[in-house]
Amino acid sequence: MDSSSSVALRRRLEIRSDLSSGPGPGPGPGLGHASGPRLNGCVPLSHQVAGHKYGVDKVGILQHPDGTVLKQLQPPPRGPREMQFYSMVYAEDCHDPCLLVLQQHLPKFFGTWSSPDSPTDLYLKLEDVTRRFQKPCIMDVKIGQRSYDPFASQEKREQQIRKYPLMEEIGFLVLGMRVYNVGSDSFDSYDQHYGRGLVKETIKDGLSKFFFNGDVLRKDAITASIVKVQKILLWFEGQSQLNFYASSLLFVYDGVPSASPRMLSSEEKTTARTLEKIDGVLEYNNNIDQSLSTMYSLHKKGCTSSHHQAKQDNSKWQPNGNRSPIQLEAKGQDKPGEADRSEADVEVRMIDFAHVFPSEVHDHGYIYGLRNLLKVLQEILED
Ligand SMILES: Nc1ncnc2c1ncn2[C@@H]1O[C@H](COP(=O)(O)OP(=O)(O)OP(=O)(O)O)[C@@H](O)[C@H]1O
Ligand SMILES: [Mg+2]
Repeated sequence: MDSSSSVALRRRLEIRSDLSSGPGPGPGPGLGHASGPRLNGCVPLSHQVAGHKYGVDKVGILQHPDGTVLKQLQPPPRGPREMQFYSMVYAEDCHDPCLLVLQQHLPKFFGTWSSPDSPTDLYLKLEDVTRRFQKPCIMDVKIGQRSYDPFASQEKREQQIRKYPLMEEIGFLVLGMRVYNVGSDSFDSYDQHYGRGLVKETIKDGLSKFFFNGDVLRKDAITASIVKVQKILLWFEGQSQLNFYASSLLFVYDGVPSASPRMLSSEEKTTARTLEKIDGVLEYNNNIDQSLSTMYSLHKKGCTSSHHQAKQDNSKWQPNGNRSPIQLEAKGQDKPGEADRSEADVEVRMIDFAHVFPSEVHDHGYIYGLRNLLKVLQEILED
């Protein structure tokens, strides 16, 4: 990070800190109270299906008492790169139509968070995209023909290829999933080894397990997922400024078909919209100056600066502390073209942006992966 952007970053974060100490929502449940050994009432994310696990790995994912997800920043350059990516996409002054559309496909971003006990450990505060479901069935699928970025060492490339040599041919890899079984009223979990065991001949059956509830194949969820993936594909076909490596799609549907998420009344939608306007973009952004060139220079410099540079005491900052769950959930559910009921019953969101880079070409690897994933989903549907 060059010194000017680092100064800008710090300045913006200080602004955020000031805001946190001003009038506004008080500490939410768990925060500001002696709440045991955990981080101020935060607990390891119970429904995490892949990635670094809190308590197992050095970093991991937590759940905040307000229902958001806290993703601990990975060591540089990965963590700062992901933070810069979210900050750029959700920048207050972002007018890039491409990035504005991309917001729809990402979890909402509520800035950074840290615990008062450990103010230098930064977390990304994200919308929990599984939150509105009663029995969330969740699948993490890595997309692309390569799991390593163009700047990876030979060792890293070989390690990634060894993990799943079929990545280039299949273009996606199931990293983990949990599926609700109606008969036993419990979840079946599948870890990374399950996905790595899938080959061309078994990928269709392997993927279909995510949509099988022990009784029927949830074709409604497959159809709705296809529609969402197609929208993401459209976005990728229309942009050539970002390339994504080792990034995932997170699929979520409700294991209890009858327990459809509560639809908001138009009055509730209006209330939620008004609240959003009052809070302004502030709520979505942590006001960090971001641009593709900043990201690029960060990368070129090997991101030698530690993420501790961005340290802040924003532990009290709780943009949603005074919001009811319904208001939180309302966000993002009222976008044009999302009126279709079946479509509202699933989530397909892009996550994990530790290896996103500026580019001048289409992301061919990701597009290849999405198209093949769509083909396999279609085949499952037609069976
Ligand atoms: N916004 C979110 N909402 C719900 N669950 C999430 C969200 N973000 C992540 N998760 C859960 O956490 C898991 C891991 O997330 P992610 O891929 O971002 O982290 P990671 O793989 O550990 O990160 P990295 O690759 O940067 O080390 C996902 O598979 C999912 O189960
Ligand atoms: Mg991941």
